[in-house]
Amino acid sequence: MSIALVILAAGKGTRMNSDLPKVLHPIAQAPMLAHAMQAGAALEPERTIIVAGHGAEAVTQAVADIDETAEVVLQTEQLGTAHAVDQARAALDGFEGDVVVLYGDTPFLSADTLNRMLEARAKADLVILGFEAADPGRYGRLLMQGDSLERIVEFKDATDEERAITFCNSGLMACGSAALFDLIAQVGNANASQEYYLTDVVELARTNGLTVTAVSCDESETLGVNSRADLAAADAVFQARARNELLDLGVTLMAPDTVYLAFDTYIGRDTVIEPNVVFGPGVTIESGALIRAFSHLEGCHVSRDAVVGPYARLRPGTELAEGVKVGNFVEIKNAEVAEGAKVNHLSYIGDASVGKETNIGAGTITCNYDGVMKHRTEIGARAFIGSNTMLVAPVKIGREAMTATGAVVTKNVEAGALAIARTPQQNKPDRAYKLFDLLRAKKAKRDKGDS
Ligand code: UD1
Ligand code: CA
Repeated sequence: MSIALVILAAGKGTRMNSDLPKVLHPIAQAPMLAHAMQAGAALEPERTIIVAGHGAEAVTQAVADIDETAEVVLQTEQLGTAHAVDQARAALDGFEGDVVVLYGDTPFLSADTLNRMLEARAKADLVILGFEAADPGRYGRLLMQGDSLERIVEFKDATDEERAITFCNSGLMACGSAALFDLIAQVGNANASQEYYLTDVVELARTNGLTVTAVSCDESETLGVNSRADLAAADAVFQARARNELLDLGVTLMAPDTVYLAFDTYIGRDTVIEPNVVFGPGVTIESGALIRAFSHLEGCHVSRDAVVGPYARLRPGTELAEGVKVGNFVEIKNAEVAEGAKVNHLSYIGDASVGKETNIGAGTITCNYDGVMKHRTEIGARAFIGSNTMLVAPVKIGREAMTATGAVVTKNVEAGALAIARTPQQNKPDRAYKLFDLLRAKKAKRDKGDS
């Protein structure tokens, strides 16, 4: 059975109090919508259609970044969830499989739940996903009769007796495409909100002689995000799950609650992550590495047995080979550091390559930016860059070359050469004594004047 996902993402999200469309607010640094799309991807959908409305331009751009095969349809006026799904009608004209409706603000649906919905579809024409709500609040209520779902009543339209029901509507459903659009065409808006409710298709299905059932999932899966507090809670849920997955995979997290992961953080087994490490998007770390406390990594690859931090910053394009050591207060960007090289203290290495077993002295800076353009620094293998060297790019340092401490290197250094580029030292005998006397006299005079 081929599947088309229809993901509703047109709502304003008023309670987010934001200029950013709700579904683009990030969880673990990926838009909420990306999580919803990823959850739906478990069904290997043939089509993925996003219904956008508020902030449609930004949503369209984000969708293209997440999955270039996904399609966006517009709902210019938000007239209700049935009206939203109806916007996919033209796009799905001729599609003969099942439509699965998801919400863009419901990021944590499991593959198991989605598969159970499809299994239930084998026995019923329409399947609704419900959940037992600890606090049913304003959710739509599912009116069951045995296995059959009779009707969904929205909170606003419910009687007190119906409001006492705790089996609630998640909003998700699965139905044959033709049947669904046929039912939606029959939905009216004579209700408390004057909206076209998708939930009305349940009762309509039954009057059309179709069978309807509900599948139940854990409430945590249907967690919807409506406010910043919900967003923070959703992020916490993601973090807790992702940390547990890493622990199960054999990664040591010394203080799991202090490690902040991105949606795509990959860490190999026997790697140790010390406390207070932050992962931005696009980080892969191989086995047996050590990421020490208070480091910040994004868009980088760390090979096995490398040591990073404490207090290191790896920015996008950083590629650390096996056994590399990056120490405290070191920033690396868009640079390849080859096997066994060391950048241990207080350095900036940007737009550069560092050869095998090269040692970069404390305080070394690659001066990569001239105010307009970026330039590269290339350092060969087994070189020794003296402390506080300024490498003014573009510049090349040959293999086994050295730079003297404090050098300002503006010209290439050939293999095996020593570059000295600093003002020669002069010592003036007794000059310090004289200078101290002079300064103390000056101060005494000034202090007298003050009183
Ligand atoms: C909906 C359900 C309710 C269920 C609840 C679960 C209906 C009528 N009610 O209520 O039974 O318990 O979800 O969270 O379906 N959207 C659009 N276009 C619209 C309206 C909504 O794209 O015109 C999108 C929203 O962006 C959101 C989703 O649909 O992602 C749900 O809409 P929302 O207004 O939050 O529905 P609820 O009133 O919460
Ligand atoms: Ca809602």
